[in-house]
Amino acid sequence: MNTVNQYLDHPEYNYKVVKQFAVMTIVWGIVGMLVGVIIAAQLAWPALNFDLSWFHFGRLRPLHTNAVIFAFGGSALMGTSLFVVQRTCQTPLISNKLAAFVFWGWTLVIVLAAITLPLGITTSKEYAELEWPIDVLITVVWVSYAVLFFGTITKRKAAHIYVANWFYGAFIVTVAILHVVNSAAIPVSLTKSYSIFSGTTDAMIQWWYGHNAVGFFLTAGFLGIMYYFVPKQAERPVFSYRLSIVHFWALIAIYIWAGPHHLHYTALPNWAQNVGMAMSLILLAPSWGGMINGMMTLSGAWHKLRTDPILRFLVVSLSFYGMSTFEGPMMSIKTINSLSHYTDWTIGHVHSGALGWVAMISIGATYHLIPPLFGRKQMYSIGLINAHFWLATIGTVLYIASMWVNGLMQGLMWRAYNADGTLTYSFVESVAASYPGYVVRFLGGAIFLLGMFLMAYNAWRTARSGTEATTNVQPQVA
Ligand code: HEM
Ligand code: HEM
Repeated sequence: MNTVNQYLDHPEYNYKVVKQFAVMTIVWGIVGMLVGVIIAAQLAWPALNFDLSWFHFGRLRPLHTNAVIFAFGGSALMGTSLFVVQRTCQTPLISNKLAAFVFWGWTLVIVLAAITLPLGITTSKEYAELEWPIDVLITVVWVSYAVLFFGTITKRKAAHIYVANWFYGAFIVTVAILHVVNSAAIPVSLTKSYSIFSGTTDAMIQWWYGHNAVGFFLTAGFLGIMYYFVPKQAERPVFSYRLSIVHFWALIAIYIWAGPHHLHYTALPNWAQNVGMAMSLILLAPSWGGMINGMMTLSGAWHKLRTDPILRFLVVSLSFYGMSTFEGPMMSIKTINSLSHYTDWTIGHVHSGALGWVAMISIGATYHLIPPLFGRKQMYSIGLINAHFWLATIGTVLYIASMWVNGLMQGLMWRAYNADGTLTYSFVESVAASYPGYVVRFLGGAIFLLGMFLMAYNAWRTARSGTEATTNVQPQVA
C-alpha cells in the first residue's frame, strides 16, 4: 500500500524530503532542548560542569543555540517550506536529487557543529560560531536550497505566488546574504580563521547579522509556516490577504535596520543606536499586524480550540509572538535597555520568542504533517498532544516568568547605590539572589522537554501502528 498517498494527493510531489525534515525536527528539538536543560542546570548548580572542558557551560551554550535554531528550527523551516511550495505552486520540486542533497548536507552541517563546538573550535561570533570549512558547506547547501525553492516557484502551475512563499523566500535570500557577509574571514588553519571586520565595524556587522537571524530565520520563516498552517488547521481562509501583503513588505523593510538595539551605550555612533531604537519601535506595527491576521483567521472557528490541541499550539504560538514583539520594542528603548541589558530579562525575552513562538508553531505544524506523511488519518493519540500542549505552555511560562523576576532584580541590584556613592550590592550577591530563578527555569525547561518526548512517542506510534483515535479533530491535508 502506498501509505503516503492515502491522505496526500499528487504522488509525484516529493514528500520524502518533507518527511525526513519533519522527523528530524522532533529529533533535533529533543537534542537541542536537552542541551538547554543541561546548561540551565549548570547555571543553577555549577558543579555539573564536572571540570570537563567539552561539557563546560561555555562550550555547551553555543551547542544549544546552534542545535535549537539551526537544527530544530532549520529542519522545521526547510521541511515545511518544501511542502508548502509544492502544494501552493501545484508542482513537484524541480529535483529530487537536489532535495536529498539539501537534507543530507544540512544534516552534515549539524553533525559537524555537534563535534566542533564541544571541542572549543569556534569563531566566537554569536549564532555564527562555526569555523570556515563548515561555513563554506553551509553556503553550498543554502544555495542549493534556494535553487530548489525558487526553481520550484518558477515552474509553478498556479498563477499566484501564495503569501507563505514570500515569507519563506525572504528568509532564504536574507539568511544567505547575512551568512556570507558576517562569516567573511581569513583562514589561518583548517580550524581557525579571523573575521575580516574589526572593532566597532565587526560589532555592527555581527548584530546586523544577529538581529536579522532573529528577524528572518526565527521570524519571517515561521510566519511562512503561520500563513499556511493556521488557515489549513482552522479550515478558514487567511483573515485578510491584503493585510498579509502589507505585513510582508513592512516587516522586511523595517527589520533590517533594527540591529543596533543590541549595541546601545557602546562605541557604536549614537545616531546609529537611535536609528536602531526608532526602527525597533516602528517594528511593533507590522509584527502585530501579522499576529492579528493570524489570530483573526480563526474568526468563526474559535470553537475548534476546545477540541483541537494542534490549533491551540498554533494560536498560542501567535500570542507569544505578539508578546515578544511587544517586549522587544520596549527593550530597545535606551533607558529601558540600560536596565535589561546583561540581565536575565534578555534571556526571558529570547525564550518567549524561542519556546512560545518558534517551538510552538513548529510543533503545531509538525503535528499537522506527521499523520498524512505517514499515510495516517490523524495522530495516534490526541490526548498526548493535549498533554504536550499543557506541558509546553506551563514550561514556557515558568521559564520566562523566572527570567523576568531575575532580570529585573539583577538590573535593580546593579544600579542601587548608597548615600556615599558606593554600590549597595556586590555582583556575587546578585548571582546568589538569582539562584531560585535558575531552579525554576530548569524546571520549566525540563517540563517543556518532557512534552517533546511525548511528541516523539506519539509520532513513533503514529508511524508504526496508525491506530486512529476516536475524536476526529484533524482535517486532511489537501
Ligand atoms: C527546554 C528548552 C530550553 C531550555 C531549558 C533552554 C535554556 C537555555 C539557557 C540556560 C541558555 C543560556 C542562558 C544564559 O546564558 O544565561 C539559553 C540560551 C539561548 N537559547 Fe535556550 N533553552 C531552551 C529552548 C530554546 C529554544 C527552543 C530556542 C530557539 C528556538 C532557544 C534559543 C536560545 C538562544 C537564542 C539563546 C541565547 C540567548 C542570548 O544570548 O541572549 N532555546 N537557553
Ligand atoms: C519587534 C520585534 C522585536 C524587537 C524590536 C526585539 C528587540 C530586542 C532587544 C532590544 C533585545 C535586547 C538587546 C540587548 O540588550 O542586548 C533583543 C534580544 C533578543 N531577541 Fe528580540 N526583539 C523582537 C522580537 C524577537 C523575537 C520574535 C525573537 C525570537 C523568536 C527574538 C529573539 C531575540 C534574541 C535571540 C535576543 C538575544 C540576542 C543576544 O544578545 O544574543 N526577538 N531583542
